[in-house]
Amino acid sequence: MDTFVINGGKPLFGEVSISGAKNAAIAIIPAAVLVDGVCRIENIPKVSDVTIQLEILRELGASVRLVNQNAVEIDCRGIRNYIAVSDLNRKMRASYYLLGAFLSRFGQAEVAMPGGCNFGGIRPIDQHIKGFEALGASVDIRNGVICAHSEAPLEGANIYLDVVSVGATVNIMLAATLIRGQTVIENAAKEPHIVDLANFLNSMGADIMGAGTDVIRIRGVERLVGGTYSIIPDQIEAGTYMAAAAACGGSVLVKNVIPKHLDCISAKLEEMGVEVEEFDDSVRITRKGPLSKINIKTLPYPGFPTDMQPQFGALLCLAEGTSIITEGVWDNRYRYADELRRMGAKIQVDGKVAVIEGIEELSGAQVHACDLRGGAAMIIAGLCAHGSTEIEQIEYIERGYEDIVDKLHRLGADIRKVHRDDPAAFPKAN
Ligand code: EPU
Repeated sequence: MDTFVINGGKPLFGEVSISGAKNAAIAIIPAAVLVDGVCRIENIPKVSDVTIQLEILRELGASVRLVNQNAVEIDCRGIRNYIAVSDLNRKMRASYYLLGAFLSRFGQAEVAMPGGCNFGGIRPIDQHIKGFEALGASVDIRNGVICAHSEAPLEGANIYLDVVSVGATVNIMLAATLIRGQTVIENAAKEPHIVDLANFLNSMGADIMGAGTDVIRIRGVERLVGGTYSIIPDQIEAGTYMAAAAACGGSVLVKNVIPKHLDCISAKLEEMGVEVEEFDDSVRITRKGPLSKINIKTLPYPGFPTDMQPQFGALLCLAEGTSIITEGVWDNRYRYADELRRMGAKIQVDGKVAVIEGIEELSGAQVHACDLRGGAAMIIAGLCAHGSTEIEQIEYIERGYEDIVDKLHRLGADIRKVHRDDPAAFPKAN
C-alpha cells in the first residue's frame, strides 16, 4: 500500500501548471458514446478516475488510443449494446453517465449502481431518474443495476430539477442529445464542467444552448460526428494549490487556469489576507502575513465550491480567530475533521457546520485520506505542519490530482510517495 510522507513547514515558491478538469473529463469521455466517428480529446488529466472511465469504454467495445499522456482518440462505433455492469462501473461515480449516453443512443440502458467518494451519507439519484422518466423511459433498480427501458422512442420534455445537481444535469443533457424533440432543463447546474460538456457536444454537432445558466435547452439531433476537443483547466486542482500556497506561505504562480472560475476561491483568500494577482491565464498567490478568520458557505457554482471545502478546512486551522464553514451542498462532508484533530486542529463539527478555532501550528501525524478532497486537505495540513505526516489511502487522492507529488516537489515541498512495507521510508511520526 502506497502512502505520502511529508516533512512540513516549508514555504512554497515557483510555478505549477494545472491539468485538465477531472470532472469535465469524466463527463466528456462517456459522451463519446454518442459520437458516430472518432473524437480526439486533449488536455485529459492523467488520474485514475479517467483511466477507469477509458477502460470501461474499452470493455464495452470502443477503440481507445492514447495519443500521448494527455490526449486520447475514442471511437465508440464498436459499442453494440447498452449494458455496463462490470466491476469497473462500481468503482467510480461517473460511470452512471453511461445511462444518459446509452439511453440517447440505444433508447435503453443497464448500468451498475455507481461507486465514488462516500461523504458519510447517501448520494441519491432520484433527479437523474426523474429526468429519464420525463423523456419516456421507465427506470427501476434490480440487483444493483439501474435499468432504463422504453417501448417507444424517447422524446424531449421539460424537466425541473428539485435540487441543483451536476450529475443529473449531465445525465439528462446526454440523454436528450440524440432523441427527438426539445428538452429543457430548469434549475440546471452551472458548473464550468457543465459548460465544457455542452461545448464538447456542440463541437461534434449537438444543439445545446444555455449551459452555464440555470436553463439549458437541448434540441435533439440525428447524429454527432467526430472532431477534436480540449478540456478546460481544473478549477478545483487550481484552488487546491492556491490553498496550499496560502497555508504554507511563499509565492506561487498557478498557471493554465481560467481566473474567472477561481473568483469565489480568490475572494475568500483575499478576505483572509492573502494576496491574489490575476493574469490572463494564471493567478499568483502570495502570503506574507498572518491569516484572518473567515466564514464560508458552500453552494452550487458560482458559489464557493463544496469540492474546496476540506482544503479550506485545513487552511482555516491556521487562521487567527474562529472560522465557521457551512456545507450547503452535501449533508455531511467533514470526515476529514477527525484526521485534522490528530494533527492538533481545533475543529468541531455539528451536522453541516464546522467551527474552527485557529491555532499557531499543526503537528505532523499519521492520518488517512477519507475521500478525494479530504485527502487533499490532509496534504495541505501536512505541508504546513511541523514535523512529519504520513497519509494513508492515497488512492483517493490519485483519483483526481495528476502528478501531485512532482508538482508540489517543484514548489519546494518535501513530499514523497513510498511503499508502506519499506520500513526505511518512514521517519517516526511526531
Ligand atoms: N442530489 C439529489 N438527487 C439527485 C442528485 C443529487 O438529491 O438525484 C443532491 C445530492 O445529494 C447533493 C446535491 O444534490 O446534496 C448535489 O449533488 P450533485 O448531483 O451535484 O453531485 P454529483 O454530480 O454526484 C458532482 C461532482 C462532485 C461535487 C458535486 C457538487 C463529479 C463526478 N462529481 O457530484 O465532485 O462535489 O458535483 O459540485 O462531477 C469531487 O470531485 O471530489 C466530487 C465529489
